[in-house]
Amino acid sequence: MRRITIAAMGAVVALGLAACSGSGAGSTDDSTGAAADPADLTVGVAMPTQTSERWIADGDAVEKGLKDAGYKVDLQFAGDDIPTQQQQIDQMITKGADLLIIASIDGTALATQLQAAADANIPVIAYDRLIRDSENVDFYVTFDNYKVGVQQATSLLVGLGVLNADGSKGDAAGPFNVELFAGSLDDNNAHFFYQGAMDTLQEYIDAGTLVVKSGQTDIEQVATLRWLQETAQKRMEDLLTSTYSDGSKVQGVLSPYDGLSRGIITALQNAGYGPTLAQGLPVVTGQDAEIASVKLINDDVQFSTIFKDTRKLAEQAVVSAQSFLAGEEPEANDTETYDNGVKVVPSFLLKSDIVYKDNIQSLLIDSGYWTEDQVASGQA
Ligand code: GAL
Repeated sequence: MRRITIAAMGAVVALGLAACSGSGAGSTDDSTGAAADPADLTVGVAMPTQTSERWIADGDAVEKGLKDAGYKVDLQFAGDDIPTQQQQIDQMITKGADLLIIASIDGTALATQLQAAADANIPVIAYDRLIRDSENVDFYVTFDNYKVGVQQATSLLVGLGVLNADGSKGDAAGPFNVELFAGSLDDNNAHFFYQGAMDTLQEYIDAGTLVVKSGQTDIEQVATLRWLQETAQKRMEDLLTSTYSDGSKVQGVLSPYDGLSRGIITALQNAGYGPTLAQGLPVVTGQDAEIASVKLINDDVQFSTIFKDTRKLAEQAVVSAQSFLAGEEPEANDTETYDNGVKVVPSFLLKSDIVYKDNIQSLLIDSGYWTEDQVASGQA
C-alpha cells in the first residue's frame, strides 16, 4: 500500500518528498512523476555466502539480469556472517539504493535494516529465503519449498524401491533403517523442506516400512546450523557410532542440501559403506544440483538431488524489481503460504524437479545448466 500511495502521488513527489536518489523515488522521476531512467537507479543485492556455488550463481544471475535491464547493481556476499550482512544492507541504504533484493543468512535478524529501508521508502524483495518478523518485506520470490521437501522424501522412497519413479508403489517393503537431516533452523526454508518431507515419510514410518533407528525425528534434533557440510558429517559419524555399532546398517538418509549430502556420504564411506550405491552405500538425497553432487549422482554415489533453476529465480527477482521501480506491484502467484510472523508476504513460487542419474541429461545438460564436461569433472 505504501508504494501504491507513493506512485499515485506524483505531485507530492514533485514537492520533494522523495527528491534524493535512494529514497524509493526510484519509481518516479522527481520533477515530472514519470518513470525514472533505470540508469539512475541502483539495486542492492545481498547474498549469504560464496561457500556454496548456488549463491554465487544466484548473485551473478541477478546482477546480470538487472544490468541488462539498465540498472546499477551493488552485489554483496556476507560470508555467512550475520553482522556482516546487516552492515552490508545498512551501507546499501546509506549509499542510496532504490530497491533491495536479500537472501538472508538468519531470516529473523534483519528487522532493523528493513525498518531503515521502509523509512527511506526502499522496497525489499526477499530472495529464496523469507525474512521473518518484519512488516517491511514487500515481496518474496522463491520455489515451492514445501514441495521441495515432498520431492526429497519421494526420491528417498524411490531409492529404497518403496515407490517407483512414476509415483506408483514399488516392490520393496522394508523395513529400512533411515536417518533424517534438516537445514539451519534460522532459515525459514528449512522448516518447509522438513515439513514437506515428514508429511510424505510419516505413513511409512507408522507402517514400519521405514525405521528411524536413532529415534531422532524432531527438527531440533536433526537440524544443521548454517547448513554446514562438516556439521552434517560429524552428526552422521556420531549416529554411526551411537546407533549402528551393533552391526545394523543404515539404508537411507534424508538430506536437504547437496553440501550436507557430501558430508554425510564422506562419513558413511569412511565407516566402510560403499563406495557406491551398488556396493551398499545408503540412498542419500540432496538439493540444489551442485556440480560436485551431480557428478556423484552420475557416478552412482549420491542418489538424487532437487534442481531449482536459479536462472529462473533470478529472472523472477528482476521482473519483480522492475515492477516496484516502475511504481507498480509485482505479480504474485501465492498470497497465502508465507506468513513471516507479522504478515503474509505476497510471493512468486517456482517449480523444482527431482534429479536422478537418468535425467541429468534432460534436466541439467539439455537446459544448459551444466555441460557434459562439468558433470564428468564435477567442476563448475
Ligand atoms: C536454502 C536454500 C537451498 C539451499 C540451502 C543451503 O535456503 O533454499 O536451496 O541452498 O539454503 O544453502
